[in-house]
Amino acid sequence: MDIFEAQKQIDSENKFKQRIDELTRLIEEANTAYHDNDTPIMEDSEYDQLKLELIKLERLYPQYKHMNSPTDKVGGGTKKGFRKVKHAQKMLSLDNAFANEDIVEFEKRIKRFLGLEEEYVMHYVAETKLDGLALSLTYMDGVLVQAATRGGGEEGEDVTNNVLTIRSIPTRLKSGLGFMEVRGEVFMEKDEFAELNKKQKELIKRVEDEGKKTSLKPYLNPRNAAAGSIRQLDREITRSRNLSFLAHGWGKLSTPLGNHLWDAMNNLEAMGIPVIKDRKVCKGSKDLVAYYESVLHKRSDLPFDIDGVVFKVNDLSLQQRLGNSTTSPRWAIAYKLPPEKVWTTLEDIEIQVGRTGSLSPVGKLKKVMVGGVNVSSVTLHNEDFINGFDSKGDTIRDGKDIRIGDTVEVYRSGDVIPRIADVDISKRKRESPKFTFPDLCPVCNSKVVRPEGEAIHRCTGEYKCEAQVLGKLQYFVSIDGLNFDGLGTKMITQLYHRKFEGNGQRWLENPGDIFQLEKNLITNNIVLADEEHWGERSTQELFAEIERKRTVSLSKLLTALGIRHLGSKNSQHLADHYQTWDKFSEALSQASSREGEAWDELISIGGLGETIANSLIESFQNPVFQVWLDSLIPELVILDLQSSDQEATAISGKSLVFTGKLEKMTRKEAQIKAESLGARVYSAVSKNIDLVIAGPGSGSKSKKANELGVKVINEEDWLELIS
Ligand code: IVH
Repeated sequence: MDIFEAQKQIDSENKFKQRIDELTRLIEEANTAYHDNDTPIMEDSEYDQLKLELIKLERLYPQYKHMNSPTDKVGGGTKKGFRKVKHAQKMLSLDNAFANEDIVEFEKRIKRFLGLEEEYVMHYVAETKLDGLALSLTYMDGVLVQAATRGGGEEGEDVTNNVLTIRSIPTRLKSGLGFMEVRGEVFMEKDEFAELNKKQKELIKRVEDEGKKTSLKPYLNPRNAAAGSIRQLDREITRSRNLSFLAHGWGKLSTPLGNHLWDAMNNLEAMGIPVIKDRKVCKGSKDLVAYYESVLHKRSDLPFDIDGVVFKVNDLSLQQRLGNSTTSPRWAIAYKLPPEKVWTTLEDIEIQVGRTGSLSPVGKLKKVMVGGVNVSSVTLHNEDFINGFDSKGDTIRDGKDIRIGDTVEVYRSGDVIPRIADVDISKRKRESPKFTFPDLCPVCNSKVVRPEGEAIHRCTGEYKCEAQVLGKLQYFVSIDGLNFDGLGTKMITQLYHRKFEGNGQRWLENPGDIFQLEKNLITNNIVLADEEHWGERSTQELFAEIERKRTVSLSKLLTALGIRHLGSKNSQHLADHYQTWDKFSEALSQASSREGEAWDELISIGGLGETIANSLIESFQNPVFQVWLDSLIPELVILDLQSSDQEATAISGKSLVFTGKLEKMTRKEAQIKAESLGARVYSAVSKNIDLVIAGPGSGSKSKKANELGVKVINEEDWLELIS
């Protein structure tokens, strides 16, 4: 820098110092006039502008800030609470829609107002409605000078000091001149909330364990926790809470951001402001309803809570013409999502018996809509869950047990079966008995045991238990097993329950019977196409599919047999190791003494371990399982696996993790595809993973992968990789 430039810089810094001195003096005079003399010397709006300018300059040139600057009294949060601040532009709320017709009506209303033809194709921006706390951030020349809550809309609370601790809110923008009010939502991600509430509950327990009383309570939901964290007089607490922020619009602006909402939001993003992510341009109300439906499906996969979607007219000049009613803009509407948690009555508890004999308690509910879906049963997991304990033995639902007749709160997470979040014991009848697990299997009357250290009750009937046999058959043909097209759970159940008149045998008793089905039906003069659920075409297709399935890889066969504890990964290890069915079964019989070389070899294959090895040996020693194999194996062509025979693919030998939602295929399909190309699929991300395939909503797993330096690709890259 030459001497002239240096002089110029000193001059301009002096200018800022002088302006800071001047603003400090003006504001102090205004304060004295207002508070001490009750004779204001300037308009409120002028006062606010001066103060914001001073905050900005002090933040840029802290060396010139006065010791007792009037800005230190701004938003600091006195003991009494937060200072009130007037928004430069009122913060409105949104009109609500609750049904598709309301959206159609919204569109008609807009067109009527603007005098547009019904055929006019209106463009909207559709986005998610975050369930958080509204914030208005004021930037001057790209510097954050104030943050305020919505309050009554005209005036909010100055929470600047707390907001300065939120990492996702930039204090300096990459660009941006003049005055700008950015509007958005501050919220807490679901994982963060769970973590916070866990700590909160631990704290409550610690205090109570010391025999003290506490007014502390767990937070109700992420919204409640976010609001509590912002409206905190101790900013260090706000800092520790890990809040997030996403912008969804703006208030007063000195420079317009664009002609269309879509571009304006992109411009905000380019300035460094995090903006709402799931935005989409939609044409007409049909598109809007489709957007709503898509959000409804992915809602539970999102890392944060939403309570609806918002539709906004894209063209800002049309927005301007539409203007606002007293409380809300005419150019926008919120379409509310149905609640995800609902209270209902638990009418009964049924016990279902699975293919490995596990007894699963299923709660039968008085039907309710949860997250837009009709729900009538919930999983109750196991005895511990019903009694108020999780798998680690810690209390859940504050230790409240679940009884038939209880009022329970139900929620859906992902596409999985609904679960119970809570139970209201104040509504419980006094004589309501505690639920006890049956001693005998409800299907076959065999003894039920709960092995030590396990949470699951098991029926000991094995092949005597119809539920277990049917479960094993269903598993054999399922996508986890040999994946028969056109032979689902319903069909298998039907074929299992029918008996041949001559010998009284079931049409389908074991997996081998599937491959003899056509022959046996012909022998008994039965035309499957005449039976309920069947037709000429589906019958032909089934028999063709059965023929195709005769050829099977060793690993697939091992998985399909549904041996307890043995999943696809270990089946693959076994197949890789023994290569042929004969070598495998021979090795198993040698290992059955559970000592010696064959046993040592078996338990060490891919870390298989004793539990699986024992389960394998027990199955193979079971006489009914032997009958199954005797009837099945001769029907099959088992492909001997020569490792070198397997074609090398881009992913062969690689370890993969799928996370988030895939759009083009289900996770299961993706897993099967990956395995068929020689990859191993795992559920947890670790440094041993080669590749993570992340769809939308993949939150914590992709984050972890990035931290560990594991490559993360999206679904498109994945499809290309396997194509
Ligand atoms: S637009 C004129 N977009 O919902 C108000 N609001 O119920 C324009 N909210 O106070 C707001 N997500 O705090 C808009 N994507 C979104 C939103 C959103 C959440 C909040 C907002 C507003 C409230 C209205």
